[in-house]
Order: sequence, then C-alpha cells, then structure tokens
Amino acid sequence: MVDLAAQHAEIKTELLTGFASILDSGRFVLGDPVESFESDLAKLCEVRHGLSCNSGTDALWLALRGLEIGEGDAVLCPAYSFFATAATIVRAGASPIFCDIDPATLNLDPEDAIRRVQSTPNLRAVVSVDLFGRACNLSGLAELCRDRGLPIIQDAAQSIGAIDAYGKKVGERTRIACFSFYPTKNLGALGDAGGIVTGDGALRDRIARLRVHGESEPGVFSDLGINSRMDALQAVALSVKLRHLERWTRARRLLALRYDALFAERGATPGSENISDGRLRLQTPVAEIEPARHTYHRYVVRVDADKRADLIRALDDDGIASEIYYRRGLHEQPALETHRPQTPLPETERACRETLALPLYPELSVDGVERVVGSVTRILDENSS
Ligand SMILES: Cc1ncc(COP(=O)(O)O)c(C=O)c1O
Repeated sequence: MVDLAAQHAEIKTELLTGFASILDSGRFVLGDPVESFESDLAKLCEVRHGLSCNSGTDALWLALRGLEIGEGDAVLCPAYSFFATAATIVRAGASPIFCDIDPATLNLDPEDAIRRVQSTPNLRAVVSVDLFGRACNLSGLAELCRDRGLPIIQDAAQSIGAIDAYGKKVGERTRIACFSFYPTKNLGALGDAGGIVTGDGALRDRIARLRVHGESEPGVFSDLGINSRMDALQAVALSVKLRHLERWTRARRLLALRYDALFAERGATPGSENISDGRLRLQTPVAEIEPARHTYHRYVVRVDADKRADLIRALDDDGIASEIYYRRGLHEQPALETHRPQTPLPETERACRETLALPLYPELSVDGVERVVGSVTRILDENSS
C-alpha cells in the first residue's frame, strides 16, 4: 500500500546528516531537536503551541486527560475509525458515546452527533476524526459544542495538512488536535511518534507535564501521567520530512484525481448511495468543495459488499495490495462491548462492508494508478457477467 523505501531513498542524505548531529550531541530524548520539530508543527497548523509524544494514541489520551476528562464522563466519537479513537476514551476512565457517519464523507454525521450530544447529560467532550485525510465538517455541531462549553478534540491522526470546508487548517478550529506519525502516515517517523497542537497555553502546559509522568517540579509528581517523550532521532526525521510534506501531499492529490478520472471513464460514479448506478459497480470518493483540501491518506472506494472479498483476492493475484479500513465499527469491537449504543449505526456498518482502500502514496506513478484501475475494472466486469 505504501513504498517507504522509495521515500527514504530520496531524502537519505538529509536524514543521515540529521542523525549524525544527534549522535554527536549525545542527547537522545526531548531537547532542542524535539522543540524545533514542535515549533515547526505548530507553524504548519498555524496554531500557537505544538507538542510531541510517542504515538497518536498517547496524543489522544494526553488530550483527554489534559482536559481533565475521566471517570463518570462521556465523550462522543464516530464509530467508524481506528480502535485508538475510542480505546483512549475508555483508558482515560470515560465512556465513549458512538455516533454514526455521513456516508458521503465517512466522517461523523453532524446531525446524528447533535442528537446524541443533546441526549447525553454527562457529555464532556467530542472527538471528531478526519478520516483518510478529509477534514471533518462539523457544521452545527461546532456551535452546539461552543454553546455547551464542550471541547472538540480533533483526531487528526490521518489528516496533517488538510483544510476544512471553512478554509481552516487542522487544529485551527478545535481546542486541540492530535496527530499520529506512525511510519505509514502522510508525515511518518521511523517508528512510533505522535503530536498535538493547541492554542490553549494552560492545556499545553498540563499535557507537557502529563507526558513526563505528571512531574510538576523536579521530583514532585502532581498527576498520574505517562512516559511519552519523543526521541531526538524521531524529531530529526520528522523535521526533515516536514520540509517535503507539501510536495508529497500535492502528489497524493494528483494521483487521487487521476484515479477519479480513470474510474469515471470506465463508468464508476462518485458518491455513496448506489453502487449499481454506474456502468462500473464502484463508487469513488465524493469531491471536496473549495476551500476544503483532502490529503488522501487513503484512497477509499466503495464496492458491492458481496464482491469485495473476491476483488481483494483477485487484486492480490495481480500483485496489487488493497486494504479494508475498517472491518468492524468501534461499537462492534469485543473490547468495547460494554459501550454498545442503544440505537443502530447503519452507515458505519455499511461502510465496514463496502469500503476498500487502493494503493496511494506520493511515489506511486501514474502508470501504477492506471494498472490498478485496469485490474479493478477487469475483475469487477468479470464478476458481474
Ligand atoms: C484515526 C486514528 N486515530 C488514532 C490513531 C493512533 O495513532 P498511533 O498508531 O500513532 O498510536 C490512528 C493510527 O492509525 C488513527 O488512524
């Protein structure tokens, strides 16, 4: 699905120069390189404070605990996301309240979210997710949260560099945004790493303490925090890669447009409602509306639920990787069994049955996209005849 070796070959000299400076310095945890990356991250998002930690999962937990969310509290999040979105809520001591998704964007459905916010008296925060690199459109949910004093935590693990429907960058409209720098992310470290941006200085300071065990002054631990300090080597790698992110994002967007155009030529339709409408039984992602900017962490299409497994197998036979994100809604995960919602989440469940991610990474060639489209089209045509 990605070719990290190709990415690293291109920037190897820059990386090695940075690593040499860390070896010479003898300082491997936090320090200047980490602070410099944090400041670059804040600048990129045009938000006052940036902070690093050891993973996107830690970033979410630190955001929740930094906002003093814990036992007895409820936190709303979409049911269609990676496990960490909800698991961190539970690990913080709170209960996740799952809402359904908008089938067009695959992000939370603001109307369903509003209904659930209104019917949950102990709600303390909302976690929105920018799935696959598309910034979540909060619509009226943002106003409701503001009126009720509910902070929005943006799970931006997949959306660094994205712009929302209001022209705002990730982190600009929410109280706090959390990033994952897992190696396969659009900005990936050489191991696990995560980050946070916030405009709230007091929140930033609380989180800075929580990531060093809750130490408030030397030898005094005022909170139960965790050890989530970024390594200097990771910070150097991320700072180098940050310089290339805009170019990589542009490459992703061009390749996604190429996919859209080639699939359209073969009779696919964009959208989410009727896979059978087009000549090709496949739906491409709905187009973003300016000024929004999708970063295509993943290029995700919909196919008939009963054809998906055969398509994956046949693509594999053609040497083409594809991946299902996600096989189950969070409300259907065994570890979250005690948090099942009372009302159904039909769009989450349908997305779990129909969606499929196709290869997309900056180093993929246009020929590579054409090969994937050719294979997908042939397999679906054969299966429907
Ligand atoms: C939406 C979402 N949230 C949270 C995370 C957790 O990030 P990490 O793997 O860096 O802990 C991920 C990672 O895949 C993610 O995709």
